[in-house]
Amino acid sequence: MIREILTYFSEKPSIAEAKSFGHLSESISLIAREKRCKKAWLSHRTQCIEFITTHLSEAVNFESVLVLGSGPLHEIPIDVLSRTFKKVVLVDIVHLKSTRESVSHLTNIEFVEHEISEIESSLKKEKALIEKVPVAFQNNDWGLVLSINIMSQLPLHLDSYIKKKLKNKFTEAQVQNFLEQVTANHLLYLYAFHCPVVLITDVETTYTDKIGTILQNDINYTHLAFPEVLSSWTWNVAPIPEFDKNMAMKMKVAAFVLNSKK
Ligand SMILES: C[S@@+](CC[C@H](N)C(=O)[O-])C[C@H]1O[C@@H](n2cnc3c(N)ncnc32)[C@H](O)[C@@H]1O
Repeated sequence: MIREILTYFSEKPSIAEAKSFGHLSESISLIAREKRCKKAWLSHRTQCIEFITTHLSEAVNFESVLVLGSGPLHEIPIDVLSRTFKKVVLVDIVHLKSTRESVSHLTNIEFVEHEISEIESSLKKEKALIEKVPVAFQNNDWGLVLSINIMSQLPLHLDSYIKKKLKNKFTEAQVQNFLEQVTANHLLYLYAFHCPVVLITDVETTYTDKIGTILQNDINYTHLAFPEVLSSWTWNVAPIPEFDKNMAMKMKVAAFVLNSKK
C-alpha cells in the first residue's frame, strides 16, 4: 500500500482527468492486482496475446499499429508488434513509468496519453451528459487498430465521477442511457477507422459462491450488436477473496475483427 501511495505521487500524468476521474490510482492498483492474481489471469493474458498475434495478418500495411487501452501491456504482444510494424502507437490515459521502462529497449514505440471516450473533460467542465463519437487518430493511415479490454472500462470512471461529484443532478435512467451510449460510441468509433480493428472486450460477468454456484449473471451490452465472435474465453478476474471473501467474479471475454478486408 505504501509503495502504491509513493508511486501515485511520483507519477505526473499529462491529462488532468487521469487524477480527477481516478485513472491513475486504478492503473497503479491494476499492477498490484495483477501480481496477486497472476495465476488466475494467466490464461486470459495468453488468449489475448495469441488472438492479437494470429490476427496481425489482418493488417492492411505494416507501417503503423494503434493500440487503444494499452495500459501496463499485460495483454499485448509488444515485442511482436514492434518487430512487425515500423511504428507502434500506444494510447491510454495513463502510462506509468514502470510500463515505459519495460519497453525502453524497443525504439519504435510511441506513448500517447489521451482520454479515449473524449467526454470526461466536458462532463467535468459543463456538468452535462454529452454524447460524442470520438474522433482522435482517425486521419492516420494505420495498418491495424487494436482495442484491448478498454471498452467496458470507459463508462466505469464516468459513472463513479457522476456518483461522487454530480449526485442528484441526473435521473438514474439518464445516467444509464448516457453510459450505454459511451460503449455504443466506442464501437462506432472503431468502425470508423479505415483499417481492420481487433476488438477484445468482456461481454458477460458472472458472480459465484465458494462452491461455484452462480449467484448472478450479467450480459454487459444488451444495447449493442456485435459482429461474429471469433474467439471467447473465461477470465477469472477476481477469485475469492480478491473482490469478496464469499464471492468470485468471472468474465466472458470475446474477440472480434471489425472492418476485415479478408
Ligand atoms: C483493463 S485495462 C487494459 C489493460 C491492457 N490492455 C494491458 O494489456 O495490460 C484498461 C485500460 O483502460 C484505460 N482507460 C480506462 N478509461 C480510459 C479512458 N477514458 N481513456 C483512456 N484510457 C482509459 C486504463 O487506464 C487501463 O490501462
